[in-house]
Amino acid sequence: MNFTVEKMKGEHIPRVAELERQCFSQPWSEKGLAEELDNENSHFLVAVADGLAGYIGVQEICGEAYITNVAVFEDYRKRGIGRALLEAACKGAEGRGCEFITLEVRESNLSAIALYESEGFEVAGVRKNFYSDPTENGIIYTKNFER
Ligand SMILES: CC(C)(COP(=O)(O)OP(=O)(O)OC[C@H]1O[C@@H](n2cnc3c(N)ncnc32)[C@H](O)[C@@H]1OP(=O)(O)O)[C@@H](O)C(=O)NCCC(=O)NCCS
Repeated sequence: MNFTVEKMKGEHIPRVAELERQCFSQPWSEKGLAEELDNENSHFLVAVADGLAGYIGVQEICGEAYITNVAVFEDYRKRGIGRALLEAACKGAEGRGCEFITLEVRESNLSAIALYESEGFEVAGVRKNFYSDPTENGIIYTKNFER
């Protein structure tokens, strides 16, 4: 499937919010996503195929990059889109001079964990009961950029 990875724009936000609602128990709102467009420390990307297929959010502060979320609509999964979004997010953060990129993931989310580990992320710690609805530990994964 052909798709492009590009910067998130206002026109993408309704579908990104829909994706958030489909994937997460505490989804980002359209308003919250729109605020990221005006935040110079935020770098949100979307994957576009025949429509919006997925997105990834990156926030950066003091040389540290944080992945807020990554998600792909079910009909578009297992086609390399999640990996392409993650690789673009890492490349962008490294290019802007970040030393590392980090994220949390539910410990039961084996597909996301497989993706992160295959992209060189390593376990940096556990946040006990980090997630609610349902309550679950969050595993912290970090990838250091070589300098
Ligand atoms: C995690 C997610 C973003 C992956 O997106 P995707 O486009 O399907 O991922 P890709 O096709 O690029 O797959 C990349 C790798 O992820 C892993 N993976 C993806 N789906 C998987 C599955 N169902 N089971 C096991 N591993 C899986 C594999 O390592 C895969 O590499 P491979 O194809 O070489 O085996 C997607 O499943 C998703 O949106 N899940 C719901 C939201 C979510 O949980 N986000 C993470 C929050 S921390």
